[in-house]
Amino acid sequence: VKTQVAIVGAGPAGLLLGHLLRAEGLDVVVVERSSADYVLGRIRAGVLETTLTDLLDRLGLGTRMHAEGLPHDGFNLADGERLIRIDVGALTGRQVMVYGQTEVTRDLMHAADARGLEVIYEASDVALHDIESDAPYLTYEKDGAQHRIDARFICGCDGYHGPSRKAMPASVAQSFEKVYPFGWLGILADVPPCNHELIYANHANGFALASMRSATRSRYYIQVPLDEKLEAWPDDRLWDELAVRLGPDAAAHMTRGPALEKSIAPLRSFVFEPMRHGSLFLAGDSAHIVPPTGAKGLNLAASDVAYLSDALIRWFKSNDGAGIAGYSDKALARVWKSERFSWQLTNLMHRFPGSDAFDRRMQLADLDYIASSVAAQTTIAENYVGLPL
Ligand code: FAD
Ligand code: DHB
Repeated sequence: VKTQVAIVGAGPAGLLLGHLLRAEGLDVVVVERSSADYVLGRIRAGVLETTLTDLLDRLGLGTRMHAEGLPHDGFNLADGERLIRIDVGALTGRQVMVYGQTEVTRDLMHAADARGLEVIYEASDVALHDIESDAPYLTYEKDGAQHRIDARFICGCDGYHGPSRKAMPASVAQSFEKVYPFGWLGILADVPPCNHELIYANHANGFALASMRSATRSRYYIQVPLDEKLEAWPDDRLWDELAVRLGPDAAAHMTRGPALEKSIAPLRSFVFEPMRHGSLFLAGDSAHIVPPTGAKGLNLAASDVAYLSDALIRWFKSNDGAGIAGYSDKALARVWKSERFSWQLTNLMHRFPGSDAFDRRMQLADLDYIASSVAAQTTIAENYVGLPL
């Protein structure tokens, strides 16, 4: 098979990039290790910036999102006693959209066939070759046979564990990492949300988040130790702890229900530089990870893809290489600012093992300052709603 752009990974980054390139008539093939059902079974992000919603609209794929998604004008920080509302709408003139990553992926997946976007699922042993040349290629195995895809460029949208980043020679690369000493235990349940907006709570017991997917489906998280076992958290214990950490007001409005999904995710900050080498580009989680506090992971994948699709379209349609030459620096400038925001909000809202009473007072003073300062709230709001492209 010969194509212009071969994409590794059919998560949100890979599918979005594939659609944007197809919309300009480019030839694209996406190879994905898992099945379509497996990709849709992963419950991940829930808050979308206009960075992402604008791209879906540009593709004409935002209809269901606008019908079923929930535009939010603000969210709350809680300090164990009160809610501090960040009025994102008033402070920035913009909104965020509550619509699950699963639904975004489903919408992109379902439109693929009709738009001539070829996605090969269940491709195993995907490997990248000759990325320093003008004729790189992928090999993979499917249904017991070996396959090869020749391309002009390869885009690695294969997440943190995929092969693309590992195909970059160590001599040109540098990575930066911070691993946090805790994870998030998440629960999804078909119950109405306890509050019409999200609540990020810093309680003496640790962090908690009240989020949602719709008016009838809730998503909650609590901070747990890294070595915590899921079995230690039967539904009842988890609901009890959420009620404590989110505070009496949220607890009074919380409806409990059986878990549709429950899982623990570790927290990490990670950046890989550069995001391009030769004919290989990285986008999304393959190049960087943020801790989920601040809801930036999926949105960063979208900004990478916005830059990368523009760059590739310029190269193929106008023979203009400036976009691809500048891609890595441009994407990383925005990545590092989201890394900063996610790291700062993680530090503000979590209980760190080994922290003392002074550290706790610093967090509470920080939250009290935010509660009293429009300048502080504006800083948080403009990062939360998404920095400009
Ligand atoms: P991914 O969604 O990881 O997609 C990569 C794709 O590549 C996958 O489909 C994978 O199967 C495929 N792939 C991997 N290896 C190969 C291979 N060898 N060959 C072919 N294909 C391959 N962000 C938030 O904002 N809020 C959250 O609550 C949140 N929760 C998260 C929970 C978890 C457990 C994880 C892992 C991430 C979470 N994130 C969250 C981050 C967010 O989901 C990611 O930033 C987003 O999925 C990035 O999209 P992506 O397409 O770059 O990567
Ligand atoms: C969700 C996840 C986040 O990391 C976040 O900051 C807000 C919402 C969610 O899954 O709903």
